[in-house]
Amino acid sequence: MALTIEDITFSDNSARLRVPEAFTLVVFGASGDLARRKLIPAVFALHCQGLLPEDFAVLGFARTPMSDEEFRARVRDSLDGCKGEPVSPEQWERFTSRLHYFSGQYDRAADYATLRDRLADGLPENRLFYLATPPESFVPVVRGLAGADLTRKGAAGAPWARVIVEKPFGRDLAGAQALNGEILSAFDERQVFRIDHYLGKETVQNLLVLRFANAIFEPLWNLKYVDHVQLTVAETIGVEGRGGTFDRAGILRDMVQNHLMQLLCLAAMEPPLTLSAEAIRDEKVRLLRSLRPQGPQCAASGVVRGQYAAGTIDGRSVPGYLQEPNVPADSQTETFVAFQAHIDNWRWAGVPFYLRTGKRLAKKVTEVSVHFRPVPQVLFNLPPVGPQAPNVLAIRIQPDEGISLAFQVKQPGPGLRSGTLKMDFSYAEAFGSAPPDAYQRLLLDAALGDPTLFTRNDEVEAAWRFITSILEGFESPLACRMLSYPAGSWGPPEADALLRADGARWHLREE
Ligand SMILES: NC(=O)c1ccc[n+]([C@@H]2O[C@H](COP(=O)([O-])OP(=O)(O)OC[C@H]3O[C@@H](n4cnc5c(N)ncnc54)[C@H](OP(=O)(O)O)[C@@H]3O)[C@@H](O)[C@H]2O)c1
Repeated sequence: MALTIEDITFSDNSARLRVPEAFTLVVFGASGDLARRKLIPAVFALHCQGLLPEDFAVLGFARTPMSDEEFRARVRDSLDGCKGEPVSPEQWERFTSRLHYFSGQYDRAADYATLRDRLADGLPENRLFYLATPPESFVPVVRGLAGADLTRKGAAGAPWARVIVEKPFGRDLAGAQALNGEILSAFDERQVFRIDHYLGKETVQNLLVLRFANAIFEPLWNLKYVDHVQLTVAETIGVEGRGGTFDRAGILRDMVQNHLMQLLCLAAMEPPLTLSAEAIRDEKVRLLRSLRPQGPQCAASGVVRGQYAAGTIDGRSVPGYLQEPNVPADSQTETFVAFQAHIDNWRWAGVPFYLRTGKRLAKKVTEVSVHFRPVPQVLFNLPPVGPQAPNVLAIRIQPDEGISLAFQVKQPGPGLRSGTLKMDFSYAEAFGSAPPDAYQRLLLDAALGDPTLFTRNDEVEAAWRFITSILEGFESPLACRMLSYPAGSWGPPEADALLRADGARWHLREE
């Protein structure tokens, strides 16, 4: 679709919000992969764009002994550039003086007392704690902070304290409830920012705009006009050296409980009363609560689970899951899952939502596609031409972010023959650059105190309640067979059969 930036009008140009108050970002697990690849580069990018206050500081906390200088040298190695340009000596000079490091044990009370003194020694008083450790350390850190009186629970206004909690948020409903209990005994809910980096993606947020800022979609967004909806999060990568960690989780916990559930919420929830964080999250919780629990029998309740076998990705041979380092040879952990979800509410009763995610699939792509009902069996829908392809609205979340709409047009020439045409909108074409990394947006919002793009305690528990109903089926391997699929395919054939039974096909499939 030919679309230029001039054609796009903005209803709000105030997107470049700047954090007004000085603050200290305390990163637990600062020696780790997430801090190096995502967090500190995101802080640097925000600093480059002038979105952070003049007076901000980063204090890394981890067990690895390091001086401030050693920490700074590590950070320097992880930074690519600033606004597409290499980091200049002046930019680095301005940034580096804000970086500090503290070596401590996550479960040693004395280290938190020393941390408190360090924070009080000239660092900005507002504090954003980031739990970027493996999940086993979340509770010790929260207890340590509370024990040293650093959480400011019950204190309104400035100086503030907030906590960002990484995924995974528990392993099941009971685990999530226990973690919520620990966190909420140290912080108030308004101080807690549970991260799901999918919500930081522009295209995920665009689901709200697409649905509620356009008059043409919302009237059709219901059981009268929608035949079914598909959500796919497909990865080509395997476990990438995380074999042990992944094997203890599986893809249902790793991708569905958080990212796919969030996509489902935004694609299917009711219009919120306002755009406030609470109004949006209220609607998401309502949607999650209207999901019908899955039964314990996988096949009977429409759940397909699988594990990748050896295969070929991008012309390269790759090993099967059971041959990956640190994966037990008899592992029963799924790397693929597809299932049909039912939303038992007035808008969606009877409309199937097909969700699918997997590792080592044919293509890296995340997409939500809405498949509308076919036109009535008159005029163009009669033999000998047969049924017309239904309209499909596909929202590509990543990569190649954009939206496409498939509809019927008359084919040029004599007679009245129709054909399917795809109108395609690409973010990169329209806006000229790739959207910013999700962590930039999420860190900025947490520093601004805006929880809209973070999950609330009842939301995370409602998602776990539904996921736990599927996990219970997995515990019975007889009821829930582990299927195999070759790396580089779209998953086990049974996942295709899931839709075929309803007369549908996956929108993204082998061509
Ligand atoms: N990496 C990613 O791309 C990514 C993406 C999404 C979410 N996450 C989440 O972000 C968190 C951090 O991920 P990461 O990849 O940065 O993890 P990581 O590199 O394995 O761990 C971060 C740091 O935590 C400390 N640590 C490691 N193992 C520990 C253990 N068993 N107990 C206590 N501390 C330990 C280590 O620092 P010291 O030994 O120096 O203390 C390590 O440098 C995790 O909860 C992960 O699920 C990560």
